[in-house]
Amino acid sequence: MRSEAPIIMPRHVAIIMDGNGRWAKARGLPRTAGHRAGVERVREAVRTAAEAEIDYLTLFAFSSENWNRPEQEVSDLMGLLRFFIRRDLAELHRENVCIKVIGCRHKIQPDIRALLNEAEDRTRGNTGITLVIAFNYGARDELVRAVRQIAEAVQSGDIDAGSISEETVSAHIDTAGIPDPDLVIRTSGEQRLSNFLLWQAAYSEFVFMPCLWPDFDRAAFHDALNEFGRRDRRFGAVSAPDLAVGS
Ligand code: FPP
Repeated sequence: MRSEAPIIMPRHVAIIMDGNGRWAKARGLPRTAGHRAGVERVREAVRTAAEAEIDYLTLFAFSSENWNRPEQEVSDLMGLLRFFIRRDLAELHRENVCIKVIGCRHKIQPDIRALLNEAEDRTRGNTGITLVIAFNYGARDELVRAVRQIAEAVQSGDIDAGSISEETVSAHIDTAGIPDPDLVIRTSGEQRLSNFLLWQAAYSEFVFMPCLWPDFDRAAFHDALNEFGRRDRRFGAVSAPDLAVGS
């Protein structure tokens, strides 16, 4: 009897939620309507990931470049983040979700900073899925902040410059303690990383989905997971069957 090979599941999935604007435009709606529909998919994605026993789900909610959007849109996106945390925090906490936030917190509005801190503090001890919200996040900015911290530690004598390793860098970026993403999904058909997790995604598998984020339902998420399961991850080495035949 032939037994089915178990589906390999990613431990950490990161998503670039793209296409809210196009989704709204296709319906003759303002862009905000697309972002609002996108928030509902955020809730669904967290639940789908938790059910699939994924340990970490990272969502690119607002990039450090998104401040360049029209003032009204930025304000709408801030409003939606407030709305999401106020509405969903209690429920996420009940569902044992641990929330972490990555990105630069310096320039964001104090009430949003307080909400993000509250979300992290309240859910810190939870042992279910970790939801990582990338907010005011840009990978280059993250790396610059890490380099500064390391340089300061060298200057103060806490780190020897010669001993700086990949682990040193990983320990100083915002995702310290979080495993690298196994799978990065981007919706809307665009095929680029847009300054998202540049260091962490060195060996990630990428799945680019044609659907727009507000259409990214449970089935689409499972399609991406199945595609991941078909990939042969070699991390720069060769796959086991090739080793066996000595090629
Ligand atoms: C990209 O679509 C999406 C964003 C810039 C923001 C994503 C935000 C949400 C889904 C809602 C808030 C998130 C949380 C976690 C509460 P786009 O506007 O670039 O779409 P377009 O490329 O079609 O114009």
